[in-house]
Amino acid sequence: HLSADEKSAINAVWSKVNIENDGHDALTRLLVVFPWTQRYFSSFGNLSNVAAISGNAKVRAHGKKVLSAVDESIHHLDDIKNFLSALSTKHAQELHVDPENFKRLADVLVIVLAGKLGAAFTPQVQAAWEKFSAGLVAALSHGYF
Ligand code: HEM
Repeated sequence: HLSADEKSAINAVWSKVNIENDGHDALTRLLVVFPWTQRYFSSFGNLSNVAAISGNAKVRAHGKKVLSAVDESIHHLDDIKNFLSALSTKHAQELHVDPENFKRLADVLVIVLAGKLGAAFTPQVQAAWEKFSAGLVAALSHGYF
């Protein structure tokens, strides 16, 4: 469970986030660094290189969708597993996303956040964020078992 200090650190990080731009940045990084994740998005059209990925309007729209779900999760910190259960089941049973990829998305997101926050992303703040991230990944993975 998250302490009051951890919750306020998570909310402070999140207050700096632009859901559309940072979602786009994180999803672009996922698709570039882990190119096999592209195969889940065959309906998105051209993802053949970095410029194509970052210029793809569907990637932008989807990054916003993903970070909106993170935003809602931050409003349900005490109940994240229940809150994400339908989304988890969808990724498991309809989309067949390998749950290892949730961790990869959490990793690229922390890189985006660290770049954005700079010195404000202190080790304590990062530790609180990583704890939240681990909970998010676990909640999304729950529908697989
Ligand atoms: C769809 C959230 C990670 C693949 C979605 C949707 C949301 C979402 C909110 C829309 C669901 C709906 O329309 O009912 C998240 C969150 C993630 C995450 C919060 C992690 C923090 C991933 C990863 C992959 C993935 C890592 C694959 C590598 C997909 C696909 C769709 C989808 C293929 C359907 C896209 C479409 O055709 O529109 N996700 N997702 N997701 N997600 Fe995720």
